[in-house]
This record gives sequence, C-alpha cells and structure tokens, in this order.
Amino acid sequence: MTLSRRRTLQLGLGAVAAGCSGIERQPVRASDNPKQTFSMAGEMQLKQRAAAKGLIYGSAASYSSLKQDPQFAKLFAETCGILVPENELKWGALRPASDRYDFTQADWMAEYAQQNNILFRGHNLAWKHFNPDWLEGVTSRNAEQVLTRHITTVMKRYAGRMHSWDVVNEAIAGIPSWRSDGLQTSPWLTMLDKDYIDIAFRAAAAADPKAMLVYNDTALEYEKPEDERTRSAVLALLRDLKSRKIPVHALGIQAHLDAAETRFNANKLRRFLSDVASLGLKILITEMDVKDQNLPPDRELRDRSVARTYEEYLSVVLDEPAVVAVMTWGLSDRYTWLAETNPRKDGLAIRPLPYDENLGRKPAWNAIARAFDAAPKRS
Ligand code: XIL
Repeated sequence: MTLSRRRTLQLGLGAVAAGCSGIERQPVRASDNPKQTFSMAGEMQLKQRAAAKGLIYGSAASYSSLKQDPQFAKLFAETCGILVPENELKWGALRPASDRYDFTQADWMAEYAQQNNILFRGHNLAWKHFNPDWLEGVTSRNAEQVLTRHITTVMKRYAGRMHSWDVVNEAIAGIPSWRSDGLQTSPWLTMLDKDYIDIAFRAAAAADPKAMLVYNDTALEYEKPEDERTRSAVLALLRDLKSRKIPVHALGIQAHLDAAETRFNANKLRRFLSDVASLGLKILITEMDVKDQNLPPDRELRDRSVARTYEEYLSVVLDEPAVVAVMTWGLSDRYTWLAETNPRKDGLAIRPLPYDENLGRKPAWNAIARAFDAAPKRS
C-alpha cells in the first residue's frame, strides 16, 4: 500500500477503495467521498494565507488576460503575491529578430505587478521550446555569445525588480535521453553541449545578483519510470552544479498534476525534496495545475477530485521547509493552456485551476487555502 493510499484511508476517502480489496489503483479517488467539503476558516485571500506562513502564493498570467479583462486583473491583484508572465519573457516573445528585442508586453506586466504591489518572476532564459526561427541560424561558434547577451540584456532590464528567474527550463524531463546525464535534445545542447547550463547561470548571476536563480523542470512527481528518471537526473545535475559552484539557488518543480493519476508516492517525493534541500537549495512549486481530462463528466466529482489532488500534493511539499513559494499556472479556468493541450473528449470545459470560468472560487481554492493554513511556518 502506498502512502497516498494510506492517506486516502486516513482522510476517510477510501470507503470504496477499501471495499475493493485487491484493486490497488482506483482511477478516480476523490469521487470516493462525495461528502468531502474542503471546508476552511476565515475569509483571507490565498496570498495572505501563504504570507502568514512565510510563503509566497501567485500565478502565471498572460499579458492579454490582464490587459483586456479588468475583472480578472482585479482578482489577480487581490489573490496573488507574485506574477509570472506565461509566455511574454520567453525568447519567442522577446526576440522578433536576432538584433531586436520587444519588451512591450513584458514591461507592461512588470509595471502592473509594481502598481499592485505584486512580486515579479521571470520565465525563462534557456528552453528547447518557444524559440524564434532565427535561432536555427546560430552555430556553435557564436552560441555562447548569443545566449550570454540575451540573458544579460533581459535580466539587466528588470534587475532588482525580479524575485526569481527560471534560468534553465526542462533540460531533463521528456523522452528518455540517450545521454548518461539525461539531458534532452535542445538547440542549446546541440550548440554548446552541457556547458550551456553553466554559461546561463553564470551570465544570470552577473546580470542580476539579487534575483533567485532557479533550475525549473517537470515530471518530478509520480512513481512512474519517467519521473523516477527525471528525479535522479535532476538531483545529479544539481549536485554537479553545486559542487562546481555554479550559481544556482533553487529548484523549480512545475507540478502539472493529473487528478486521475494514482501513482503518487508521498514518501518518495518527500525524500526527493529533502535531498534537494540538503544541497542548500530552496524549492519553488512553479506551475501547478491539475488535469481533469480523464475524469468522468460529473462536474462536482471532478472539482472534488482536482481539489483533493491539490491538497494531497501541497500538504506533502509544504512539510518541507525548503519550499518557499507556490505558483499555479493560471488562476481561473477562463484562461488555461490545458484547454488547448489537454481538452476533454466529451467537449466539456476543463476545470484545472482554483477559480472557475466566472471567477468564482472552487473546491480547489479551498484545498490550496487548507494546505497553506496547515503548513508549518517558515522561519
Ligand atoms: C506554456 C504556455 O502556457 C502556453 O501558452 C504556450 O503555448 C506553451 O508554453 N512548461 C513550461 C511553460 O515551462 O513555459 C509552459 O507554458 C507549460 C509547460
């Protein structure tokens, strides 16, 4: 029996599962307890509940959602202590040509954050996706210069105003790599081999000595071969970077979860978090959302299942004192990338985030609030 299943029983959610002895994996778990209400006390916003524990809560958002939807922008400012531009700081958005930068949208978002007293966070400086076509013309000969210049220019523009930067994104997670270090094919790996990671972090530290420099990756959560592989390669990478004094300050765990996934092993995750923390690194949950694509259509059941996934996961990770921030990848189901990447076959709208499409709080909101309320206070 996995700990998650034990926890399920402890929480009184396991009535059906317990009755079906021999069936270890229930496809939908929260539906086991239609009475679960996710009740919580008080009226405080998520950012206040997080702050009361020395934590930061916030979300990614797009320029257009904040600029064109005042109701959403108001909710965002009330709820979030940190803003992450969803795409606006990526190479593909900032670099229309090799000799040009376009900061219009990112600048507007930095200003919005400042006006509303919200921290600002950068995502990202080196990734295999979302790159401009002209990057294909860069070669091993000038790649170091192109990467360093980009990082220097972009980071200096926001220096002193950035809480943290995802310096390197998803160097490891993905299809099994042919390399023993597990690094994924990317334009940067092709041009600079693994040195691109050192180059990026060194340039980042020089450009903004105040920002927290983060290595961000995905597929770190579950007890399945891909995630096992990612966890061990990420840990080896971080160990290697720290041993060579490359300036990395934190691990970003994306946490794109799936409410229908049963292979959550809390013990393994705790051990991984504590291994990362023992390297002297902080940990940020950077892109949390919960897919409901593979759940039955019933809306209440889906909402409970998504909420339960949030609470179960956050209650484990917030036990680790090195975890200092939780960001969701979107605030409201009105704006979620999963609508395109993970739509439901039955055509129903997906519901992966704390607020619904009408900006009303969902059980997932309560679940996050409960996890913050129960979290130990950071010193
Ligand atoms: C996604 C955005 O949400 C989409 O709008 C875009 O089309 C593709 O990128 N991991 C990451 C994020 O690090 O940058 C991704 O964001 C989601 C997965």
